[in-house]
Amino acid sequence: MKFRPIYKTKLGKAYAADSLELMSSLPTGSVDLVLTSPPYALHFKKEYGNADQGKYIEWFLPFAREVARILRPSGSFVLNIGGSWTPGVPVRSLYPFRLLLALCDEVRFNLCQEFFWYNPAKMPAPAEWVNVRRVRVKDSVEYIFWLSMSDSPKANNSRVLQEYSPDMRRLIKRGVKETRRPSGHNIKETFSQDNGGAIPGNLIQCGNNESNSFYIKECKRLGKQIHPARFPAELPRFFTKLLTDPGDLILDPFAGSNTTGAVAEELGRSWISVEMNASYAADSELRFRAPRIDEGMAAVAGQKTLFELPGRAG
Ligand SMILES: C[S@@+](CC[C@H](N)C(=O)[O-])C[C@H]1O[C@@H](n2cnc3c(N)ncnc32)[C@H](O)[C@@H]1O
Repeated sequence: MKFRPIYKTKLGKAYAADSLELMSSLPTGSVDLVLTSPPYALHFKKEYGNADQGKYIEWFLPFAREVARILRPSGSFVLNIGGSWTPGVPVRSLYPFRLLLALCDEVRFNLCQEFFWYNPAKMPAPAEWVNVRRVRVKDSVEYIFWLSMSDSPKANNSRVLQEYSPDMRRLIKRGVKETRRPSGHNIKETFSQDNGGAIPGNLIQCGNNESNSFYIKECKRLGKQIHPARFPAELPRFFTKLLTDPGDLILDPFAGSNTTGAVAEELGRSWISVEMNASYAADSELRFRAPRIDEGMAAVAGQKTLFELPGRAG
């Protein structure tokens, strides 16, 4: 490969490069998981040059075609994408849905499942519609599309079990009688079997609250710019466990502060990160200076309820 990493770790390589170019140098069928959060098509542009809503799909599809090429047949593509508004009016943009259709219709990805990332701490925006005129509510979810080229990529939900809810724990203790619910679902006695945890739903709740993380503290201490659009480590951690085995290769083509690479390292997966902004790419190395990589992640990494859903689980 003509590219030289900006830093290396035991399991990974970080590149400061354009990921379209870098991906084109990777062999076909060599990556197990592409997990990423590209710049969104925001009305209010961020400093790293988000594409316009109207041109977003045209901009993104060449990256998606490379992703499709480099994935192994058993591999997955996990894409986190935020919603957006039509400029000047309180009307949502359809770009995430148009993008999803283009990925499936034009690149031939399958939509394995759509997920929603619920971030209760998200700021109310646009202020004009939410705070001033009060005609819309807070937009507190983002989309996560789990895509793959095959219709049955590698996955195992028993690796992302959640703690049982108090209700479910009571059911496990007491047991259930066979019954038919008004909805038509048959409840068998095995429903109350202890399977080691509840199967999570497709709503992932976590805030962007890594304010105590090693990366943030080190950026502040060294006067470095903290990446402004990081996702919480829980997101890559959930999909890394669900979709890969130790030793698999994970790529983040829009790596930012390299949350994905740090989680991969923590979980014993190999990784490649690509970030176009050379300072973000270089500073992401701070994540790997933590005394223990898992301690260096979000302050919430040790919580037991990482993927807890509101309501009853089971
Ligand atoms: C939403 S941020 C990703 C943040 C990351 N998930 C994290 O937790 O830090 C998107 C990143 O993509 C980078 N980017 C944009 N175009 C790129 C390209 N063609 N190649 C590589 N990186 C790119 C931006 O500089 C930005 O840092």
